[in-house]
Amino acid sequence: MYDYLIVGAGLFGAVFAYEATKRGKKCLVIDKREHIGGNVYTEEVDGIHVHKYGAHIFHTNNQEIWEYINQFASFNRYTNSPVANYKGEIYNLPFNMNTFNKLWGVTTPTEAKQKIEEQRRKAHITKPRNLEEQAISLVGIDIYEKLIKGYTEKQWGRPAEQLPAFIIKRLPVRFTYDNNYFNDRFQGIPIGGYTQIIDKMLADSNIKLQVDYFQDKETWDKQAKKVVYTGMIDQFFDYKFGTLQYRSLTFETSLLDDTDNYQGNAVVNYTDKETPYTRIIEHKHFEHGTQDKTIITKEYPAEWKPGDEPYYPINDTTNNTMYKQYKALAAQEENVIFGGRLATYQYYDMHQVIGSALVAVQKEFD
Ligand code: FDA
Repeated sequence: MYDYLIVGAGLFGAVFAYEATKRGKKCLVIDKREHIGGNVYTEEVDGIHVHKYGAHIFHTNNQEIWEYINQFASFNRYTNSPVANYKGEIYNLPFNMNTFNKLWGVTTPTEAKQKIEEQRRKAHITKPRNLEEQAISLVGIDIYEKLIKGYTEKQWGRPAEQLPAFIIKRLPVRFTYDNNYFNDRFQGIPIGGYTQIIDKMLADSNIKLQVDYFQDKETWDKQAKKVVYTGMIDQFFDYKFGTLQYRSLTFETSLLDDTDNYQGNAVVNYTDKETPYTRIIEHKHFEHGTQDKTIITKEYPAEWKPGDEPYYPINDTTNNTMYKQYKALAAQEENVIFGGRLATYQYYDMHQVIGSALVAVQKEFD
């Protein structure tokens, strides 16, 4: 008999398993995928660590979490500074003085602020009714048209005038020549990839892959005193209040033998509407790779339907209300711990998942 059946070998399940086994508990970890790691999984191909589920950059402001993850890997000094390609024009992200200089030729923060203010005023938007108005009211028409509109419309699969304003609450605008995307104190990519981290976390657990919990839930449940569930919360309750909605993604990865440097940066966002993908990731640049070949991944946003990979929860009022109903049911399950991005129906960065798993551990053991 195991102490815990952990459904999902992603970061949440792995942190929980690591902490439980450290305390002498026996864990059985199952995952329906053929590998551990969930969405942080990286696969090594010709010495390049390929981020199979999109670019994963570790960043946090929390020293404890930084020290926690550093037990399992050393991190390099990668700093995320994506660029935008708008019809062949290249702009620095996040929006900063380099971006404003390229857009308008301005060189000082005062000039840039004036330009943005002038555009915001011209737009005359006091109460934004949709995402388009919201974005223009925050940063003006030029940034919106070239760097936000096309990208966002591709991401959500519909025109910006039909998207709710709440999707963009604020748009970080920086009046310094600083291309570092994150403001956090700590960031980097684990040398050797992410999978080794999960490997180490699960070293003392029994792992079974390519098994779907729901195909034989009763039998799995009998194997442990408690369940840690990191799958979709609506599926756990057999969709009794309805299906929670997501956006999905598809990834197209190519090994390019004939070039050692395809785009000169790890992440390039395509912000026009016509290019069907939203970004191209060139994996070797995450680790300053010097291989004589390269691997790129094109990321295409996709509609989600049940059975597809759920990537981004759509946290609108309808879905959030439905989630609350599921959450109330989950609270009554005495022997099940619900955690991770799917069981709590929210977008989590990696440091947040680790933080929430450690809170669950504390609640369980302290
Ligand atoms: P995760 O989804 O990883 O794990 C859940 C596991 O449960 C999966 O392996 C799944 O197969 C399994 N499972 C589900 N149902 C099951 C069932 N019925 N039976 C068996 N197994 C089942 N974060 C960050 O900090 N920096 C970044 O740059 C990025 N970038 C990024 C890009 C993209 C495209 C996405 C979608 C996400 C990010 N993230 C990120 C977020 C990061 O991926 C996320 O925080 C963690 O992967 C979440 O870990 P979980 O364990 O919660 O879920």
